Amino acid sequence: MFKKKNLTAAVVVSASAALAGCDQFFQDASDREVDITQMSPEELAEHLVLETDSYRMDQEVQEGGTGRERMQQDEVQALCSLEGSPDSETAGQVVAAARASYERPDGGVELGDWRRGAELARSGYGYRVGHNNDDHGTREPGANCYACHQMDPAETTYGTIGPSLANYGRERGTDESVLNYVHEVVSNPHQYFPCTYMPRFGRNFLTEEQISHVMAYLLDPESPVNQ
Ligand code: HEC
Repeated sequence: MFKKKNLTAAVVVSASAALAGCDQFFQDASDREVDITQMSPEELAEHLVLETDSYRMDQEVQEGGTGRERMQQDEVQALCSLEGSPDSETAGQVVAAARASYERPDGGVELGDWRRGAELARSGYGYRVGHNNDDHGTREPGANCYACHQMDPAETTYGTIGPSLANYGRERGTDESVLNYVHEVVSNPHQYFPCTYMPRFGRNFLTEEQISHVMAYLLDPESPVNQ
């Protein structure tokens, strides 16, 4: 799948293609503090992507702090970035860290409005930085579930990195145990799927209210996901 290594390899291929027969690049580079000729292909790719002013690492990002601070891995990200797929010891550490940081909402898990959840599930807006930062003052960040999941069985456009969630509520009902499980997965899926590709939506990404809407979209018997 989309391992970072493959991305880096792709960047290296295009970078070396661009560098071939281009002496000027090395001339310029020797004036800088870093000597790119001493870098490994991976270091060179990282340098070209992140440190050559194509992306300004000092710019402010929407969650506060700077782009460079966003690059600092937390415990789960660091464990999941180790070479190869996580062994059982690493997976255990990831699950433990995820469980330790999980918080169930006061008063228990409740379902919100599936219509609002449908909008959020489709929207990939928010937290993007680059030439134009997403303005959260004019439009709320979305959840982008469709990037990876089928949800409404009538929807024809969706990603397939994650399993289909069509009829999710119809097959499971809305018992407290189901509500708790889905809240745990959406907040921090590493509690069940260590080193998953699914984002941890409870980490300052979606509000509890937004999570309740997305959960209603999955579980409410009236939601198109369950028709
Ligand atoms: C970047 C891809 C990605 C995004 C975005 C994503 N998911 Fe997932 N999701 C996954 C993957 C992959 C799994 C399966 C776990 C695994 O094996 O890693 C999963 C699993 C799940 C499960 C558990 C299914 C089960 O077996 O019970 C639920 C529920 C879920 N996702 C809901 C959501 C919701 C709701 C959203 C949007 C708020 C969302 N996901 C966004 C990738 C994603």
